[in-house]
Amino acid sequence: MNDTIQSVIRSNAAITAIGTYVPERILTNADLEKLVDTNDEWIVQRTGIQERHIAADHQFTSHLCFAAVQNMIERYNVEVNDIDYILVATSTPDAVFPSVASQVQAHFGIENCGAADLQAACAGFAAAIQLANGLLLSGAYRKVLVIGAETLSKITDYSDRSTCILFGDGAGAFLMESSDDGSGDVVSMYSITDGARGHQLYRSSLASAIGDHAIHANGLIVQNGREVYRWAVSHVAAGVKQLMTRSNLSAADIDWFIPHSANMRIIEALCERTGFTLDQTLSSIQRFGNTSAASIPLAIDEAVKAGTLKQDQLMLLYGFGGGLTQAGIIIRWSL
Ligand code: COA
Repeated sequence: MNDTIQSVIRSNAAITAIGTYVPERILTNADLEKLVDTNDEWIVQRTGIQERHIAADHQFTSHLCFAAVQNMIERYNVEVNDIDYILVATSTPDAVFPSVASQVQAHFGIENCGAADLQAACAGFAAAIQLANGLLLSGAYRKVLVIGAETLSKITDYSDRSTCILFGDGAGAFLMESSDDGSGDVVSMYSITDGARGHQLYRSSLASAIGDHAIHANGLIVQNGREVYRWAVSHVAAGVKQLMTRSNLSAADIDWFIPHSANMRIIEALCERTGFTLDQTLSSIQRFGNTSAASIPLAIDEAVKAGTLKQDQLMLLYGFGGGLTQAGIIIRWSL
């Protein structure tokens, strides 16, 4: 079936390795019951989340990236010294600058390498793959490391029961290389942004307003859960359908659907509206919570480790969140 699928964009990018890492410390729903007025049944029913991994006080996003890349090196025996660009998708960099990507470059001693962080919140990993495809296609770069990594626990308000139940920490890395035969794994891509709704989900920084909307300038995640939920099940579902239409594909043509693991109820609603079955869908929500830019690679790596993914299968990856923004790609799994 997949041999007949034609790419609708140009790509010469092959995915050649994957690695992931989550911190050791686990925060269960029972632990959260001690922090806020909530309970396991409510959290599981509304979100599907059972536990999340939380970084230690001294562990920051760069450290999670180092561990994910190390995991990739050990499993796939890949060379990293000749990587020529590092892109890290994150909303929780250790510092605004230097970038997390530059810390990854330094940690592995990669000599001739560009580095930049990409901030597209929960759409970050899919957006970074889109950009990596362009970097490789330009011919200026041959080996790009793409990482989605977060320490959301550092910016979560553990006194707000409607947000602190959701978020966790983790990192996932893909190595993408120019393929020798010039054919690529990225079949299609799509993005759409609704910045007018930016105030519905944010983490403040310098300003105290987003557009005309005054915001809480406390540096922690603030969201209007109901509004984000409504946007996700309507606008994100429409975005997924748009990506499939542009690719001349339906859910039946695609082997795996990997939406951002925001919440199990959102994933179920997206499946219902786009034609994917839950059996076709990979998520990392149950064990890791919402890990923003890390959630898609974490979900994929769970399936890789379980032996579920097969070479040449088609996957639709779809990130969405703060912005509010969406980024989707259809890729062929080549590992
Ligand atoms: N435990 C128990 N009760 C809680 C609770 C918790 N952790 N959080 C909120 N509640 C209460 C509310 O206070 C409210 O009580 P009230 O009716 O007495 O006022 C009730 O539960 C319903 O609140 P509501 O906000 O309508 O819940 P919900 O069904 O919308 O679920 C979310 C809340 C956050 C789980 C849901 O809105 C959601 O998933 N939104 C999307 C968030 C998201 O995915 N963000 C990231 C996108 S990338």
